[in-house]
Amino acid sequence: MDINAVKSAYRRYAPGYDLCFGPILDQGRRKAVAKMNCRPGERVLEVGVGTGLSLPLYESSVQVVGIDISPEMLERAEVLRERLCLGNVAALKEMDAERMAFPADSFDKVVAMYVVSVAPDPVRVVNEMRRVCKPDGELFIVNHFRHPNRLMGFIERLVSPLSNMIGFKPDFSLDEFLRKTQLDVLERMPVNFFGYWTMLRATNRK
Ligand SMILES: C[S@@+](CC[C@H](N)C(=O)[O-])C[C@H]1O[C@@H](n2cnc3c(N)ncnc32)[C@H](O)[C@@H]1O
Repeated sequence: MDINAVKSAYRRYAPGYDLCFGPILDQGRRKAVAKMNCRPGERVLEVGVGTGLSLPLYESSVQVVGIDISPEMLERAEVLRERLCLGNVAALKEMDAERMAFPADSFDKVVAMYVVSVAPDPVRVVNEMRRVCKPDGELFIVNHFRHPNRLMGFIERLVSPLSNMIGFKPDFSLDEFLRKTQLDVLERMPVNFFGYWTMLRATNRK
């Protein structure tokens, strides 16, 4: 995946994204926000916020900032913020998650839902998530990882040369991701249909 391929994939997806990926990925979003268990006044960063489908799930006492590389996805998040009067959504910014403009230790919790297998360099994304998250804050990642079933894994490998076109890597390995990021995982939970996706909760030890 390269960043231009990501931008062009999500330019194409933006108009139909909510219809296609709204309900299918909804449970993962809800479980992640519930697990975040945010306290009033906490600051949350949503990396790859997309069309903002998760934004209404936060309590109004929690301040949320969203970033995304795709202006077309963000435009829809902005419309949603205005339509639902989400005053707690402090900002929606066009920004590369691999090079964030925030100072270190800016957020209590940082979450990336369905993003790490889309971004060109997932390790850099996680390193940036760590940097902008406060020490002992929490990081949340929801994603599909390579399926352990041999047939499913084979199909995912078969489709993987099309990653740039489909806008994500279908055979993204969890073991490799954890080895390279050295995430301090506290909890791992299957989410969505047949547990095909995984939610990770990690502590941000610095
Ligand atoms: C599958 S969508 C997920 C959107 C949203 N989180 C959701 O739950 O529906 C992936 C999003 O990640 C964004 N993205 C991918 N790479 C990125 C990067 N390097 N920086 C910022 N956003 C990125 C894409 O533009 C897209 O909006």
